[in-house]
Amino acid sequence: MRKIDVFDTTLRDGEQSAGINLNTAEKLEIARQLERFNADVIEAGFPASSQGDFEAVKKIAQTVKGSIVTGLARSVKSDIDTSWEALKYGEQPHIHIFLATSPIHMTHKLKKTPDQVVDIAVESVKYAKKNFPLVQWSAEDAFRSDPDFLVRVVREVIKAGATTINLPDTVGYATPSEYGAMFRHLKENVPGIDRVKLSAHCHNDLGMAVANTIAAIENGADQVEGTINGLGERAGNAALEELAVALHIRKDKFTFGTDVKLDEIKRTSQLVSQLTGMAIQANKAVVGKNAFAHESGIHQDGMLKERTTYEIITPELIGENSTQIVLGKHSGRHAFKDKAIALGFELSDEKITEAFKAFKALADKKKEISEDDLYVLLTDQQIQEEEVPVYELKSVQVQYGNGSIPTASVSVISPEGDLLQEASTGSGSVEAICNTLERLVQGKVHLLDYRVTSIGKGRDALGEAVVNMTYNGKSTTGRDVAQDVLEASAKAYLNAINRQLVNERKRSYAKTV
Ligand code: KIV
Ligand code: ZN
Repeated sequence: MRKIDVFDTTLRDGEQSAGINLNTAEKLEIARQLERFNADVIEAGFPASSQGDFEAVKKIAQTVKGSIVTGLARSVKSDIDTSWEALKYGEQPHIHIFLATSPIHMTHKLKKTPDQVVDIAVESVKYAKKNFPLVQWSAEDAFRSDPDFLVRVVREVIKAGATTINLPDTVGYATPSEYGAMFRHLKENVPGIDRVKLSAHCHNDLGMAVANTIAAIENGADQVEGTINGLGERAGNAALEELAVALHIRKDKFTFGTDVKLDEIKRTSQLVSQLTGMAIQANKAVVGKNAFAHESGIHQDGMLKERTTYEIITPELIGENSTQIVLGKHSGRHAFKDKAIALGFELSDEKITEAFKAFKALADKKKEISEDDLYVLLTDQQIQEEEVPVYELKSVQVQYGNGSIPTASVSVISPEGDLLQEASTGSGSVEAICNTLERLVQGKVHLLDYRVTSIGKGRDALGEAVVNMTYNGKSTTGRDVAQDVLEASAKAYLNAINRQLVNERKRSYAKTV
């Protein structure tokens, strides 16, 4: 069985998706989970793109030791230097440099000739090699590049010291046979190609990212790149959970596989969805809510007689057992802490105490606490950022009756520590809350998207709200959970505002140092 390395780019290509903005604590939490999922390489961000990305990549490189941590860089010395400052803490410092090689990109975006592109690529790889033992070089838009030019540039960057060559289908244009053929062409024509790792990176614009990636492996790729839940630019990247499960389930056919911990898939997928606020489509392969649901009578009958009639993947394979009831109102701190540890959380005593308080408050309202509830609660505690003054919800009250105008009264503590109160109406309860909050936060808010979902099952399930908005012209996303969806909505709204405030403060701090 040939081992295929898994390169996860949820925190870089995935984070580039419209509407996602993760803070450092959230990125670190996802990186830790990716380590448990057993990704071979984690692309933690693009250090030179912003102060926030730099900090997150550095923190992840300092913390994660079970996976190689990398960061993206353009082919310029300043990007490579900045990346080194963030990535030098890794066990095996790894950088990912890219440069476009297709005629379209070279002419219109880079405004460079092919000769110039080869020179820049070689120079940047040589420069990176001065510090980094591992240098991945990507030919952006490789699939739409001239195959012979690709052979030439790849040959030169290997000579310059690249250790991995990545050939992306940047715009998701390839079909499986075409994408596979590109790998075969390079394998057959580039001297020394067997000394480096070959990597596949597919986008999903035509829905073929996973199939294309498998075709690349069949034609010599040693590494696959993708994201959890298929997040990514436009239609996203290849979904890693689908790839890993496909290779496992069809091991009768494939002579290769990954070392992904399949039973960490469900949790990884849920965490990414929870923190990014990107819902998973119900019928999504492997991790969708309906992926194991059998609706028609004939299917249910078949399942009862013999599961394999209609089930090729078991929920247990991907670690789907989180709806079990695990704790209740009378559970003590000890049992709570043990469960937190069993779920993989490493929380300080102080954070356990805070989480336990939140658990008790929830257990007072909700009789039975499931693993899903606990996971959300503990994650929320884990991702608390360092204390910075932001808006805090004190109370929310809504008056609603059919035939009357919904009115919300809300009080918050401002970042300056003042108690602010307002009331306002709206055409519905949520709009009344949003209108009131907009007055309180003193800025122009334009709501772009709003969603409420339940966590777990049952009438008393927690409600999660996700709000996507622009605040003073900048886009931001917020999320929060509560047992009441109106409270969750108010908290998610403030969470979006607070993220923006924290980002602004970080930016102005970065300018002063
Ligand atoms: O899709 C792409 O080409 C990329 C590169 C930066 C590797 O994400
Ligand atoms: Zn990409």
